[in-house]
Amino acid sequence: MAAAVHAYDGQALRVRLHVQGRARSCPFDAIEARVPPEGDVLDAGCGHGLLSLLLAAGSPRRRVTGIDVDPAKVAAAEAAAVTARLTNVAFERVAHDWIPERRWDAIALADVLYLLGHDAAVALLDRLARAAAPGGVILVKEIDTAPRWKYELARLQEVVATRVARVTAGDAVEFVPPTVIADTLRDAGLAVEHVPLQHGRLHPHHLVVGRAP
Ligand SMILES: C[S@@+](CC[C@H](N)C(=O)[O-])C[C@H]1O[C@@H](n2cnc3c(N)ncnc32)[C@H](O)[C@@H]1O
Repeated sequence: MAAAVHAYDGQALRVRLHVQGRARSCPFDAIEARVPPEGDVLDAGCGHGLLSLLLAAGSPRRRVTGIDVDPAKVAAAEAAAVTARLTNVAFERVAHDWIPERRWDAIALADVLYLLGHDAAVALLDRLARAAAPGGVILVKEIDTAPRWKYELARLQEVVATRVARVTAGDAVEFVPPTVIADTLRDAGLAVEHVPLQHGRLHPHHLVVGRAP
């Protein structure tokens, strides 16, 4: 993690602070540990690309693609990958109505669904679940809606990030409960595992893992 964060050293203070905050607050290691060491990996809504860098650094046999709607974040991610000398990661700016057009061995989606609004979030999740290759995995990290006080704190923070500081592109702040994420993955034919990650953390992080047959 430290090496990935250092890859942003030459970038604007705002970017560095944001990346350092994400490194501290988001349990990326729990996602990385569940991504197979080989194959095509999609980091959907990659932001500044910290998770993409971790995934690429974690195994040279992963071919990682990070996509995001925010051109400034994609540029920051590309610059960090060059600094880190990682050749197995690439980034792409996509349109808001982007949908996957191919299969992936692993798909990571970290704190993106809550920005889309409930119906769009479920629709994208369904498409992503169906884009998992046979035997592939989808890892959806979101904020749990319980306990209530942790949830309200996380919601307030995200309202500030999207509407006041505008560090995150998105109009909605509508967290999708883990049960809805799990049901959507199951409906797409995946086997589902819940991984609560909030113990000892202020944010009620929750990972839903879907495995394609
Ligand atoms: C809270 S950030 C999380 C970034 C990164 N996944 C991480 O964990 O640090 C949410 C990201 O989702 C992106 N985003 C919002 N709507 C999107 C969409 N329709 N498709 C892809 N990315 C989107 C935003 O630009 C932002 O970078």
